[in-house]
Amino acid sequence: MSKAVEKTYPPLLKLPQHVGIIMDGNGRWARQRGMPRLRGHRAGVENLRRVLQAGVELGVPVVTLYAFSTENWRRPEVEVRGLMRLLAESLDKEVDELHRNGVQLRHIGDLAPLSDILKSRIQAAIELTKNNNRLVANIAFNYGGRQEITAAVRQIVREQIPPEDITEDVINAHLYTAGQPPVELIIRTSGEFRVSNFLLWQGAYAEYYISPLYWPDFDKDEFYKALQAFGQRDRRFGGVSG
Ligand code: IPE
Ligand code: IPE
Ligand code: MG
Repeated sequence: MSKAVEKTYPPLLKLPQHVGIIMDGNGRWARQRGMPRLRGHRAGVENLRRVLQAGVELGVPVVTLYAFSTENWRRPEVEVRGLMRLLAESLDKEVDELHRNGVQLRHIGDLAPLSDILKSRIQAAIELTKNNNRLVANIAFNYGGRQEITAAVRQIVREQIPPEDITEDVINAHLYTAGQPPVELIIRTSGEFRVSNFLLWQGAYAEYYISPLYWPDFDKDEFYKALQAFGQRDRRFGGVSG
């Protein structure tokens, strides 16, 4: 049987140290095919595995994947329940392979409202993969940038840190992403130009790449294109170009 020739991707000169991905368009992908929205979410989860593998191969060190926002509870109950079930199932199915591929799984967001089963599966996946170092994947599930900043402020107040000692570094250290490099590239699929409460603090100087593809169709080629586009951006951080 002939095997498809593996495509080669020339090495990238400038690689973002942390990529955020707003995985959008599952519902429209399904609708386009006359399928229920949950089929789109299922296809989205399957694609997640492929994109993480691509991330490992392309050499991206940290990826944050927006899977469920604090606003997504507004969706119909069947969809919310379906998304919870899908996360539990996929953790069950995918974690061993991700572990073998050297992926370190982390969670960002508020775990409290999730079911005990889901919480324990998330914690087990984090524990199993905690020493892996090929790629760190933060799963943003029940995550919202405003919720994250609110939780950080609460914690800072609890620790009774004096106001004059509160610096940007202190705030950084109280976010879910403490200790990780700042997000340098944010990719949003499905052609939407919105931040939708994703990494509000961390993304202050992120470059954006909007892909027209729905999330289930976003592949290694498109990931590579986003990374190439990042390499061509003139990042000035408020200064002037050199
Ligand atoms: C993204 O796809 C997945 C989640 C937000 C859970 P959507 O479900 O938002 O898909 P569209 O935007 O309706 O097409
Ligand atoms: C953002 O997508 C959240 C995730 C991808 C998890 P949404 O589809 O929820 O965002 P809006 O509602 O279009 O802004
Ligand atoms: Mg959407």
